[in-house]
Amino acid sequence: MQKIQMVDLGTQYLKIKPEIDKKLLEVVGSSAFINGPEVKAFQSELEEYLDVKHVIPCGNGTDALQVALMSLDLQPGDEVITADFTFAATVEVIDLLGLKSVLVDVNPDDFTINIEALENAITDKTRAIIPVHLFGQCANMNAVMDIAVKHDLFVVEDTAQAIGSDYTFPDGTKRKAGTMGNIGTTSFFPSKNLGCYGDGGAIFTNDDDLAHRMRGIVNHGMYKRYYHDEVGVNSRLDSMQAAVLRIKLPHLDEYNARRRAAANFYDTAFKDHPNIQTPHRREDSKHVFHQYTLKIAGDRNALQKFLMEKEIPAMIYYPVPLHKQKAYDDGNYNDADFPVTMNLIDQVISLPMHTELTDDQLHYITESVKEFFNA
Ligand SMILES: Cc1ncc(COP(=O)(O)O)c(C=O)c1O
Repeated sequence: MQKIQMVDLGTQYLKIKPEIDKKLLEVVGSSAFINGPEVKAFQSELEEYLDVKHVIPCGNGTDALQVALMSLDLQPGDEVITADFTFAATVEVIDLLGLKSVLVDVNPDDFTINIEALENAITDKTRAIIPVHLFGQCANMNAVMDIAVKHDLFVVEDTAQAIGSDYTFPDGTKRKAGTMGNIGTTSFFPSKNLGCYGDGGAIFTNDDDLAHRMRGIVNHGMYKRYYHDEVGVNSRLDSMQAAVLRIKLPHLDEYNARRRAAANFYDTAFKDHPNIQTPHRREDSKHVFHQYTLKIAGDRNALQKFLMEKEIPAMIYYPVPLHKQKAYDDGNYNDADFPVTMNLIDQVISLPMHTELTDDQLHYITESVKEFFNA
């Protein structure tokens, strides 16, 4: 059996190696490293895949969030609500821009933003919501959009972990993750469901004005060459990364299907286990399993150590909630307002999840987890 990895990018690469190698050499030969034809082509191919009017490629998923917020004309002190249980990038950009991040608790089953907590956190200073489609499935976008309409708020979907997922509204309308709010953002970090071979990101919107604005912001606030209308940033997807993404995008649905198949294997093996709660799949969203995250009744850290000793990597996403991080704790947060997150940080463990897991590996992982509880 091949060594088990949390994410196996090497084996995936071998399957597309001839195409990748040829294309990368072509890009080098063309010298069109920045804003070249590969970037433009990827942009329109992703627009088509997502069925969204505008894709704005950029440097990474954090920049994507930052540029999205910069385009909304928010004022210092305006409040932006997001989930306490997510990667720090989501909240980092809010504070970096002088806005006020307001963290709220998540659901105990799907780990996405809790709608009641979200509604309770709205004040007359709230301007935007950033729902995070955590671990591969969408937040309750029907409720988020209803709240946004009711309170006249912007919605920026953080889709870094859920590209290719979709969401079905009660009227049957189906939309891809990242295309429901005013703006969606994603990351092409190598381990993401659609990952490049370095840093990369993109912003999505159906709004022509926001798209125009964000195209300028990512390019030094420049709408006409050497005329800088506003303070922008330099955030670009380079041609090599775009070339890799163009080769991988046609495989995305198949990659996500492989992740779902691995998740099915895990689900079956752990079904009805008294110490293990398998990930809940929302009925309104297709789970693309960026992570396969269990909730454990028992000594989660000892399980992680046990698995490591058996050469099975397992990760804790996330060990410290954002409201307890020095950078984001404004002194007003109270653990009692985050009962779910405070439990999750001691219960969750993510098992290896990628496109290349074999049945042998999955069998070994699941038997090892069960062995821990039988010992
Ligand atoms: C939920 C979430 N948002 C944003 C990001 C930031 O993406 P990047 O690393 O490309 O800046 C990540 C990356 O891990 C993420 O998981």
